[in-house]
Amino acid sequence: MTQPPAPFPAARARRLRRTDWMRNLTRENSLQISDLIWPVFVREGSGIEEPVDSMPGVLRRSVDKAVEAANEAANLGIPVIALFPYTQADKKTSDCEEACNPDNLVNQATRAIKAAVPDIGIMLDVALDPYNADGHDGLVRDGVVQNDESLMMLERQALVQAEAGADILGPSDMMDGRIGVIRRALESNDFPDTAIMAYSAKFASSFYGPFRDAVGASGALKGDKSTYQIDPANAEEALRMVARDLDEGADMVMVKPGQPYLDVCSRVKAEFSVPTFAYQVSGEYAMIEAAGANGWIDRDRVMIESLLAFKRAGCDGVLTYHAFEVAQKLQRDLEFS
Ligand code: PBG
Repeated sequence: MTQPPAPFPAARARRLRRTDWMRNLTRENSLQISDLIWPVFVREGSGIEEPVDSMPGVLRRSVDKAVEAANEAANLGIPVIALFPYTQADKKTSDCEEACNPDNLVNQATRAIKAAVPDIGIMLDVALDPYNADGHDGLVRDGVVQNDESLMMLERQALVQAEAGADILGPSDMMDGRIGVIRRALESNDFPDTAIMAYSAKFASSFYGPFRDAVGASGALKGDKSTYQIDPANAEEALRMVARDLDEGADMVMVKPGQPYLDVCSRVKAEFSVPTFAYQVSGEYAMIEAAGANGWIDRDRVMIESLLAFKRAGCDGVLTYHAFEVAQKLQRDLEFS
């Protein structure tokens, strides 16, 4: 139970706020490098680092450059990178076959990183949108996103990703039944140790806009994703999705977007006590960068404050495009403290 404060002046809250050392001593939460998952965009070619216009500071990297980035991330102590493909337009089809190609961009990158940097974890999204001519996360027939047919693709996609060496699979498409299908496929194909971080509380959000540019999916998407992602008004439903995904075999769950859904993060952690992650998505990143670039906020401090908020809400870690820079900063702070 929370002890109510004694009446003033027996209690003076400011006693514990007086100096740096006292604030450090009594701080409730902290952000660590081991809390960070770094999403990295991969593209064709070699020697390429190409900026993403809507996400200043974020690059699309060719596989060789992604390997270099993974190596630097591992040296900083970042535990996991999450790879996302920028798929060439001619490889996007309505049957999404490229998703199941063992040599597609993310699978190539996973093999290359595993060979060169064995000590960093690799997470891959299980979803069809980067490969879909229709831009949706599931197969589209007559304008309708198909659930059960999409599951068969997700199963194959998950298996080629596990085969490539992915440590964590992140089913991000919100089709019903996906976690169970993927878990059973992993168990029966001798991948008992591949972890699943389910995008369980994934909302039909407008904060994903810049990401869709980054993976080249914006042009293709017809309509929105509200027939499969959660209505932003619904927290109870998000909790039911978490319960369902855990029941089907998820090891960890995610809330996405992050900052607008901190209430959901907090409730998930409190009700389920499972490893809980937030995805600070592209729109959140872009807002911090844009306001920072205009001098309207102190970008560096907001970057840290926004991540610390996830720890306070109960998250075990955060996927953030700022991961690399934050890790550099935290490492420097450690060296100098
Ligand atoms: C794809 C996927 C999306 C993101 C991660 N995986 C986009 C979407 O659902 O439209 C968004 C990440 C971000 O905005 O940073 N299923």
